[in-house]
Amino acid sequence: MKTYKIAAIPGDGIGTEVVSAGVEVLDALAKRDGGFKFEVDNFDWGGEYYKKHGRMMPDNGREQIRNHDAILFGSAGHPEIPDHITLWGLRLAICQPFDQYANVRPTRILPGIVSPLRKVTNKELDWVIIRENSEGEYAGVGGRVHQGSSLEAATDVAMFTRAGVQRIIRFAFKLAQSRPRKLLTVVTKSNAQRHAMVMWDEIAKEVAAEFPDVTWDKMLVDAMSVRMVMRPESLDTIVATNLHADILSDLAAALAGSLGIAPTANLNPERDFPSMFEPIHGSAFDITGKGVANPVGTFWTAVMMLDHLGERDAASRLMNAVERVTADERYHTPDLGGKARTADVTAAVIEAIQGSNV
Ligand code: IPM
Ligand code: MG
Repeated sequence: MKTYKIAAIPGDGIGTEVVSAGVEVLDALAKRDGGFKFEVDNFDWGGEYYKKHGRMMPDNGREQIRNHDAILFGSAGHPEIPDHITLWGLRLAICQPFDQYANVRPTRILPGIVSPLRKVTNKELDWVIIRENSEGEYAGVGGRVHQGSSLEAATDVAMFTRAGVQRIIRFAFKLAQSRPRKLLTVVTKSNAQRHAMVMWDEIAKEVAAEFPDVTWDKMLVDAMSVRMVMRPESLDTIVATNLHADILSDLAAALAGSLGIAPTANLNPERDFPSMFEPIHGSAFDITGKGVANPVGTFWTAVMMLDHLGERDAASRLMNAVERVTADERYHTPDLGGKARTADVTAAVIEAIQGSNV
């Protein structure tokens, strides 16, 4: 029997609640399948760890998870610690050294969930956003001088390399090619940002020549936000910079009904390092500990993890189970306007897995 070693990092806020729900569901899937199992190691890194040790994870943290098959991440963010510390101390401290440069964010309107866009169905809104995840606006280049004085100056430099842009655009074309519509939209802001964004456009054109069967077009990010709302059916696969895609993927999640259901994969496509899977929603301190966090984002995230591990059957079994459960309003958590609790949704998904004949 195959054993997958998973590093679980629940992190902060509702991260703990949704990751433990995710692990329960993964175990139920493994039992149902019989061909594989999970060995889950839990790491208590995050805000509470920081309060005790002055850092978000131990110095040798990455070595501890280096040989796991995948990382299941909850969220990083703590009300008493500045956000840039929690982000750079944990999530980016894993994503960047592990070269998880392709951040993949699928968006669909799941059965039973209503989009705030009138009359839009999951046929018209079925996207994958690919976010450059290693450089750009999140490169960490910049600095502050004369802090606190009236002469203070600060810069955040968005740094793009030809190699970095090429690999994410190539990844996006490949993914677009694997989807039925073979459609890619490359998002930039090459009217105002006249250096790196112009390079993106040029590289997109070069890489496009390798994929003659993919139809592609370019959009400026501001116009893209309009197109996502007004003509969602005209989009399929989307690639954008780290920050642009961060913003567009929140919009996408909202248009699909809730941030609570949106998943992410931080992929190292070459598999030199483990990839990391996480729900998009973040720590959500307003509902932490109340047992009402929507675990669907983590379940969909687990689907992406299973796909990455090569367990395609289990991945589609889980997605089917999730869709059967979202279709039933009794299992909608408060973010979807319902009254269900995390445990109710988890139990329903496990039941759907056990009863599934796919
Ligand atoms: C995301 C989040 C993060 C990001 C935050 C928590 C720093 O918004 O994963 O989209 O901007 O990368
Ligand atoms: Mg975001």
